[in-house]
Amino acid sequence: MDNKIKILEQKQADALLGGGQKRIDAQHKKGKLTARERIHFLMDEGSFEEIGMLVQHRSNDFGLDKEKYLGDGVVTGYGTISGRLVYVFSQDFTVFGGSLSETHAEKICKVMDLAMKNGAPFIGLNDSGGARIQEGVVSLGGYADIFYRNVRSSGVIPQLSAIMGPCAGGAVYSPAMTDFILMVENTSYMFVTGPNVVKTVTHEEVTSEELGGAHTHATKSGVTHFACANEIETINHLKQLLSYMPQNCEEESPALPYEAGNELREELNSIIPENANQPYDIREVIESVIDSESFLEVHKLFAENIVVGFARLAGRSIGIVANQPAVLAGVLDIHSSTKAARFVRFCDSFNIPLLVFEDVPGFLPGTDQEWNAIITNGAKLLYAFSEATVPRITVITRKAYGGAYDVMNSKHIGADMNYAWPCAEIAVMGAKGAAEIIFKGEISSAEDKNAKWKEKELEYQTMFANPYRAAERGFVDEVIKPSETRVKLIKAFKMLENKVDKLPKKKHGNIPL
Ligand code: HXC
Repeated sequence: MDNKIKILEQKQADALLGGGQKRIDAQHKKGKLTARERIHFLMDEGSFEEIGMLVQHRSNDFGLDKEKYLGDGVVTGYGTISGRLVYVFSQDFTVFGGSLSETHAEKICKVMDLAMKNGAPFIGLNDSGGARIQEGVVSLGGYADIFYRNVRSSGVIPQLSAIMGPCAGGAVYSPAMTDFILMVENTSYMFVTGPNVVKTVTHEEVTSEELGGAHTHATKSGVTHFACANEIETINHLKQLLSYMPQNCEEESPALPYEAGNELREELNSIIPENANQPYDIREVIESVIDSESFLEVHKLFAENIVVGFARLAGRSIGIVANQPAVLAGVLDIHSSTKAARFVRFCDSFNIPLLVFEDVPGFLPGTDQEWNAIITNGAKLLYAFSEATVPRITVITRKAYGGAYDVMNSKHIGADMNYAWPCAEIAVMGAKGAAEIIFKGEISSAEDKNAKWKEKELEYQTMFANPYRAAERGFVDEVIKPSETRVKLIKAFKMLENKVDKLPKKKHGNIPL
């Protein structure tokens, strides 16, 4: 027996070395951790159980039969993060550049299937040269097997992807179909075609970093939700993200202990500037209302005219969507609509209540927006809110104008409670523009046109630039002092705790993609 145990131990030791010490050193030299080191930092100490450590590829072409590594370039298994079960794969760049073979794909699919059957989150740590070139179509099939499972798992279990090295070609589509992507600055990139192909086809000269680095995808494309300074920060973000989520769509997110105290927040009474055209930072409002230091902003650098993220209110996990008056006056445009719509759908998929702060002057005008389909893209946010069945509350802090009023979780599209601050302005449009249209005749025939315009602007403003017309109709449930916001929200979310709302029976809706 001793001899047999020794054989096993030797195999395990070989597997732990992946592609060998030389390649491990090369990985470290690039400032990257190995696949196993990443798992070590991600999982609770001693909790990781590996599955498929002794798997080997079964390819004989191009001399591969003479080059075999135990584990075949990916470490897979399960363990816990903060005591909660998760399934994980971590690609090992030291083995054929982490490239995906038939068996490598099979290992990933095995843990994906286990994650689905057992209702626990699935995390992918990506570091791969893409399809194992020597294996041809077999490798492509392996990718498709993963894509298929990503889609089947979508909305059932949370799926998170960290990109910690190359991720190119069709390989990008697995992370793209997961719920959140995190990228490491300077050492990771994602693109469908790399700089060389780009140069041949479009004659553009661009580096990998410019084309598909973390900063590019965090600011320009929005492909990644987080750009992290290094791998440890990425892993810590993964853990934090998970803490707001339930294990699966049948469960609630874990709540933290909460002790009621003085919930009035006097500072909120002085955040909104006297002049309605002055900007302010909606993050100040968010921070004042939620539990201290509980905000995890998602997509922080992308479409900054809307702020989305997770937070806790009285210990419970919530999703926040807030217009940002400090950027483009908080206007809704294509990117902000799609950013928010995706976030709303994630929260709704996983039973996370939604809190909306509204200060929106309307949709962004212009040919760029119209020709790039603000109609379809704006509709995504309208659709996402309308189909969401989780508890939904809106606080109108200032402007709620035009179609954007309807879109931003209005009562009409199913919000459960809508509050407005006394400085709220709820109207079809701003008073100046409205006066110009409806009093055009009167203004143009007046002796002092400017004075008339001002008079009519004031008339419209007095009538609509307040929350009371909407409150008379019940479109706003209550006008509240800003300082009371936290108190009201804690009570209202508690009141909505057992909300039951079901969509009509259907196969699935047809969101305007
Ligand atoms: C097999 C690969 C590989 C691959 C890298 N290696 N990519 N082996 N298949 N796709 C191997 C290398 O031969 C090398 O082996 C080791 O991994 C490390 O690679 P290096 O090139 O030395 O590393 P580096 O300089 O850091 O460059 C990394 C890289 C480069 C940028 C990823 O290796 C690269 O361009 N690889 C090819 C990428 C690619 O074209 N993939 C196919 C994309 S198409 P040794 O033995 O020397 O350590 C695709 C389609 C998916 O993926 C479609 C899904 C639907």
